[in-house]
Amino acid sequence: MFRSDVLAVSGLDDRTSSHAVLERAQELMADAVGAERTFFSTSGSSLSVKSAMLSVAGPHEKLLVGRDAHKSVVSGLILSGVRPIWVDPQWDPDLHLAHPPAPEAFEAAFHDHPDAKGALVTSPTPYGTCTDLAALAEVCHARNKPLIVDEAWGAHLPFHPDLPTWAMDAGADVCVTSVHKMGSGLEQGSVFHLQGGLIAPEVLKAREDLLGTTSPSVLLYAALDGWRRQMIEHGRALYDDALALATRVRDRIDRIEGMRVHGREDFCGPGCAADMDPLQVIVDIAGLGTTGYRMADWIREHHRINLHLADHRRISAQLTHADDEETTGALVAAFQDVAEHAADLRPAPTVEVPSPRDLRLEQVVLPRDAFFGPAEQVPWEKAVGRITAEMLTPYPPGIPAALPGERLNSDVLRYLRSGVEAGMVIPDAADNRLNSVRVAIEQ
Ligand SMILES: Cc1ncc(COP(=O)(O)O)c(C=O)c1O
Repeated sequence: MFRSDVLAVSGLDDRTSSHAVLERAQELMADAVGAERTFFSTSGSSLSVKSAMLSVAGPHEKLLVGRDAHKSVVSGLILSGVRPIWVDPQWDPDLHLAHPPAPEAFEAAFHDHPDAKGALVTSPTPYGTCTDLAALAEVCHARNKPLIVDEAWGAHLPFHPDLPTWAMDAGADVCVTSVHKMGSGLEQGSVFHLQGGLIAPEVLKAREDLLGTTSPSVLLYAALDGWRRQMIEHGRALYDDALALATRVRDRIDRIEGMRVHGREDFCGPGCAADMDPLQVIVDIAGLGTTGYRMADWIREHHRINLHLADHRRISAQLTHADDEETTGALVAAFQDVAEHAADLRPAPTVEVPSPRDLRLEQVVLPRDAFFGPAEQVPWEKAVGRITAEMLTPYPPGIPAALPGERLNSDVLRYLRSGVEAGMVIPDAADNRLNSVRVAIEQ
């Protein structure tokens, strides 16, 4: 590994990059998925999504953004000074879960903000649910505005027709994917794709250049290229197997007492998602009287299996083309075992989850202004009614519950405080225990 860790310029390629090694690999990737242009990134989709946003809007310009965006999108807003026009996700108040916003919600936001430069949606979400991207692309293109899709969880979608439609097929302008998530890149390996005439490739490239490292890892490039080749040669067959395996695994887990595997009947339909990825096995464990946090920790400790995400009432396993009967057998055995030990994990502290209405905070000032303006650290009870100067993000899945410039309410603070007591992790807060919160000093 160390021997192969050469420089990109004057290493992988010559001093002037005359062999166009990277360009060629990117062209092959674009060809493999049917995009016009593809760019590799070695800083995860966290960088790719910022590059995409900044190629559409600049300081003080408006961008429509689904409020269930990942924290890397919010970082992009903070760094750029772009004004977010938040579009509400589709909340399922019973399951306490958000699906991506519907195209109609973006249409309404464009109606109210015709000067918005474009739209950004996250689809699939970390829970695997998708919006109707084709309809959303039409909404945007009817106004000649570009659509950015954060498809970090969808690297595999282009390679099998039974998976949800991937963003480029649906007509999106830019789409960002993390190959290290659902594909088989090394950590941080991400690609973003471009098509159509609404975003100039040189603008997108310049934004990537602004943010990217000058020392990209060629190991990451090689892994992206290797994944592309594996998918072109074997993708269809690998996902035939993975999808069949997922059907069997979902069924076996669903039969474990106290566990419910969410399927299309729970997630898809009017007012919910348009589609879902069956490889994300989302399991409701509310019936077992404990939290997903406790279960995930117990499974790691007793079975050496790390789960994808855990929240106050769910655990989830992410299957990929690399899974087989052995890995999924171990997974099902671990789930069976933890269900039998649920009594040991009770009583679990209750997380005070607010209603969707109370969860939605008002954006009072630009994220950038609140983040960089004067701020102070106050006890959490005194933060009620104040404007937060920091992101407060339960991780995973990494969607900020509060972000700079939003006015905090007691429901959100109680949710996060009770969440921390129950095992929720909030890595971006200055005080991770949330005994205190960083808030803006209003002039
Ligand atoms: C929806 C979404 N977008 C972007 C990212 C950032 O991706 P990366 O970890 O590749 O930087 C994540 C990471 O979890 C994500 O869930």
